Amino acid sequence: MEHKWWHGKTAYQIYPKSFCDSNGDGLGDLKGIISKLDYLQSLGVDILWLSPIYPSPFVDQGYDIADYENIDPIFGNLEDFDVLMREAKARGMDVIMDLVVNHCSSEHAWFKKACADLNSEEAGYFYFVKGKDGQFPNNLRSYFGGSVWEKIPGHEDEDIYYSHYFAKEQPDLNWYNEKLREQVYKLVTFWLNKGVAGFRVDAILSIVKDLSFPDLPPDDADGMTHAAKMNARNLSQIGQFLNELKARTFAPHDSFTVGEVLTVTKESVTEFAGPNGYFSTLFDLSPRELVEANPHYRDYPNLTVDQFKECVFNTQELYQQADAFVAPIIENHDEPRGVSYYLPEHLHNAQGAKLLGTFLMFLRGIPFIYQGQEIGMTNTKFEHIDEFNDLFAKEEYRLSREEGKSEQEALALCARHGRDNARTPMLWSDEPNAGFTTGTPWLRVHQDYKTLNVKAQESDPLSPLNHYRKLIALRKDPKLHETVTYGNFERNELGAGVLSYLRTNQESGQRLLVIANTNHESLTYQVPASEACALITTGEVELQGTTLTLGCGGAAILELK
Ligand code: GLC
Repeated sequence: MEHKWWHGKTAYQIYPKSFCDSNGDGLGDLKGIISKLDYLQSLGVDILWLSPIYPSPFVDQGYDIADYENIDPIFGNLEDFDVLMREAKARGMDVIMDLVVNHCSSEHAWFKKACADLNSEEAGYFYFVKGKDGQFPNNLRSYFGGSVWEKIPGHEDEDIYYSHYFAKEQPDLNWYNEKLREQVYKLVTFWLNKGVAGFRVDAILSIVKDLSFPDLPPDDADGMTHAAKMNARNLSQIGQFLNELKARTFAPHDSFTVGEVLTVTKESVTEFAGPNGYFSTLFDLSPRELVEANPHYRDYPNLTVDQFKECVFNTQELYQQADAFVAPIIENHDEPRGVSYYLPEHLHNAQGAKLLGTFLMFLRGIPFIYQGQEIGMTNTKFEHIDEFNDLFAKEEYRLSREEGKSEQEALALCARHGRDNARTPMLWSDEPNAGFTTGTPWLRVHQDYKTLNVKAQESDPLSPLNHYRKLIALRKDPKLHETVTYGNFERNELGAGVLSYLRTNQESGQRLLVIANTNHESLTYQVPASEACALITTGEVELQGTTLTLGCGGAAILELK
């Protein structure tokens, strides 16, 4: 495999609105991030991904962008951004931005001009489509509920609609329009010239459309079908767009790019993330994909830890056979906290967090840690639907109530699956509002902040934070680096509730065993080696010769000889 500058690094996702507030307005900002760079450096992460910080009406928390070449005043300004870039670089960290170009905000000047004049150049940047027989052009349901079609503002009396796969305030951009593509290359180059090392590329599969806008077979009683089903049908056309994007922007800058791409297959993995792929890597979103195969919370399954493991292992093998690099994750801003979502209830705690971290950090690929994961944040408890901010959770709540569920039942669904679970403020200390803000936080603060916070964990050698620090440092250890980065992945099946795999280096012969026990019962395992040494352990772990015993929640990484 050809070596790239970002191989072997560890990435960290910052959700800026909830990271650190420097000015007391209850919203995180760039100065807040700058004030925490020493912390991030002490964690050992190399690449910082910032969720969107562009001007936005925040209908979908900044994923609705009103101006691609600026910073929203709640976060600061372009000068603050330059300081952040400089200070991050000075600490050996790179910054990547969120590239959201499947859609913009309905407040973007392009959309306003387009609506004002349906014959303008900007009108061509969007999908303005005539209705069929007085109905919507087709029966696609948007990601957040309701049709993907909406009457064009100012043209409500006409039989013409615009497409939005996400909220109606997020009109889809028309990639089949060359001028629009030029605009995209220009904005990407704007940030590359500011020194960003690359991008996380949002919802990119949705940029291809079937321009005849056919109906698809309904997947629910509403007669509609999830817009994502259309993505899979049109995948063959995406290469032309993404190769051009790469050639015009990422490639000349040797950027690191990570795609938000679902439904990765044997065929598409090489195309998207192989040695000449459109992107450097793709997130492993396979557990979420299993959950979201169902359009509504009411039908989302509760994944077992074994289903989670199976997803991760299948992905590892898929990318390995394609000579590609995956980006393993436990959680992000769209998913509940992994500890609460994937682990059995007896591990919804600090030990569960350390166990999951141990499992994650030696997988093949470039791991992403989501803010708060490193201290073992669990789901936040919401007591009332009004405490939620996420438009998707609110829509699912409304639907559940309409379908006859009680308030408690509808709330329980949002509490389990809602995106706000992981969007609540970062927990820095036991001060009011967990030290996140001196004002009123925009989203409620996690119930356990008095004991679950960075400050408390700094001084505890056994805390999740210090465990993550050790794991990240181990990844960088020159004695292990080659195997962790380029070594072979091999699943090690030890039965239900046990997460285990091997990483092996064919050249040096080095073999690393990762093992974690989520079961109540302890596990005794004869490791397949003549000698074994523990590189890191957490929880109840005993190694006597080559006999390893793991208590409930115990996890270890061993070097086998
Ligand atoms: C991605 C983002 C998500 C957003 C959506 C629309 O999935 O991660 O937060 O709502 O795209 O931009």
